[in-house]
Amino acid sequence: MEGNTARIWWKESVVYQIYPRSFNDSNGDGIGDIRGITDKLDYLKSLGVDVLWLNPVYESPNDDNGYDISDYRAIMSEFGSMDDFDALLEGIHQRDMRLIMDLVVNHSSDEHRWFKASRKSRTNPFRDYYHWWPAEKGVPPKRWSYFDQEDNAWQYDETTNAYYLHYFSVKQPDLKWENPKVRQEIYEMMRFWFDKGIDGFRMDVIPFISKDTSYPELPASYDGDFIAYYANGPRLHEFLQEMNAQVLSQYDVMTVGEAPGVTLDQALDFVAEDRKELNMFFHFDLLALDREPGEVFKMRKDPWKLTEFKAIHSKWDQVFEEKGWGSIFLCNHDFPRSVSRWGNDTPAYWRNSATMLHTFCLSMRGTPFFYQGEEIGMTNIRFDSIEDYRDINTLNAYHKAAHNCDDLQAFLENEKDASRDNSRTPMQWNSGENAGFTQGDPWIKVNPNYRTGINVADQEKDPDSVLNYFKKMIRIRKEHPELIYGAYQLLDEDNQKVYAYTRKGKEKTFLVLLSFTEEAAEFSLKDIPKVKGQLVISNDHAPSQLPEDRIVLSPYQAAIYALS
Ligand code: NOJ
Repeated sequence: MEGNTARIWWKESVVYQIYPRSFNDSNGDGIGDIRGITDKLDYLKSLGVDVLWLNPVYESPNDDNGYDISDYRAIMSEFGSMDDFDALLEGIHQRDMRLIMDLVVNHSSDEHRWFKASRKSRTNPFRDYYHWWPAEKGVPPKRWSYFDQEDNAWQYDETTNAYYLHYFSVKQPDLKWENPKVRQEIYEMMRFWFDKGIDGFRMDVIPFISKDTSYPELPASYDGDFIAYYANGPRLHEFLQEMNAQVLSQYDVMTVGEAPGVTLDQALDFVAEDRKELNMFFHFDLLALDREPGEVFKMRKDPWKLTEFKAIHSKWDQVFEEKGWGSIFLCNHDFPRSVSRWGNDTPAYWRNSATMLHTFCLSMRGTPFFYQGEEIGMTNIRFDSIEDYRDINTLNAYHKAAHNCDDLQAFLENEKDASRDNSRTPMQWNSGENAGFTQGDPWIKVNPNYRTGINVADQEKDPDSVLNYFKKMIRIRKEHPELIYGAYQLLDEDNQKVYAYTRKGKEKTFLVLLSFTEEAAEFSLKDIPKVKGQLVISNDHAPSQLPEDRIVLSPYQAAIYALS
């Protein structure tokens, strides 16, 4: 086999992301919880996934659904208790799966005891746990904030006549990693979870942790691109190497960083094995593809092109050809549903689209991550009214738009495609009330299409369902290490309808054909060296032997052939 082939469990794993608030409610309060997850472990095992990633379950006032943590060593009471957590972890390990948690340490909640102390006085021992700018120095140089109604990351705090820094909401003050005490607190907290037996961390906005604490005017080279600036702090790699040396290297665990602002040429600095930092990260190039340049939550006007989609994946694959390792994902709790975004969720194309996208994720190099509900092809809910939204991001942006007298109808249209709540509607378990998610009133509306086949129970019974295809495709990936480690080669790069590539190992080569169009798509096979090609899987009718010269794919068809 060529390329980066050193075998490690986390390269061979399929990861399944759980958004606990929306997964399964065991006590009827309308909010998913930890026992609810434990109740579904046999289901999760039946999928064939290896690692579960839990979005934050720590104590939190929930300004940003758990990404504002007030106690890193306690479980959010809405989700249950530490005993419930321990039982979950045991259940996962009993089934030979692993658990990774969210590590949210760029910021804490303003209700964390560190921040409560920090804001009390300028001489408090915790003052230097956060970034403060004394008001007598004037207004601090502009910093942009994701979830601030005025986009302003500096919040004035009267008690000490100073501003504190918050890259996210006012209730998410940034921790000051430059203070060695903060780093030691964080490392101890990580050890606490590792000593319990967890198997790794997904690290929230990890490239943002290092800051120039003179807080200068944004350097001209960033030309207003705050995200790139935030991801390039002066001591970032020093901190990651220290964290690795002091904590990560002591355990057999996996790490995946969330990496907005990290570019192709910076990638190996984070994940090359000899750097001793992280194992993998999520880049943001795909997530930006259907957005306005520099606008994380604004849809671009013209449709994205398949050639752009291919270019992104091909370039990122290339970076990790010899060193490091990548991640493959099409959806998470911050972005809309994959079938609605990258496929076509209208009834005629929904099934083929969802299964074609599964074929893609499970035949690429890199560790595949799936988001709950993706296995059954859950779709965007497209709320009509602002009343239905729960996400601080949409709600703040709406208030800002209203304040600026912007076109609110246009804003709501954009949110139908862009809103994070599209992926946060409850998991659809069956065709009973509330899709079987809760016996109470769900905290956010359930997508009504659970009644028309988009639910686990119905799909478990149907051999041709999206769910059963997903399981089959996972089995195929596991049976063929070439699909994990084999070299990737893009074919016919300018084709706007078909994404085709090979995965080549020492013994076998696989040809992957994916149609991204509503039309029948012809693909020429003339230039592909082969004696014969045997069908491995397809989501639609496909010839069992690869034709000599051309193949016609039906709308959103996927097919994999083993070439010999
Ligand atoms: C990224 C997380 O995925 C998102 O949900 C959260 O709002 C921000 N980081 C802030 O923690």
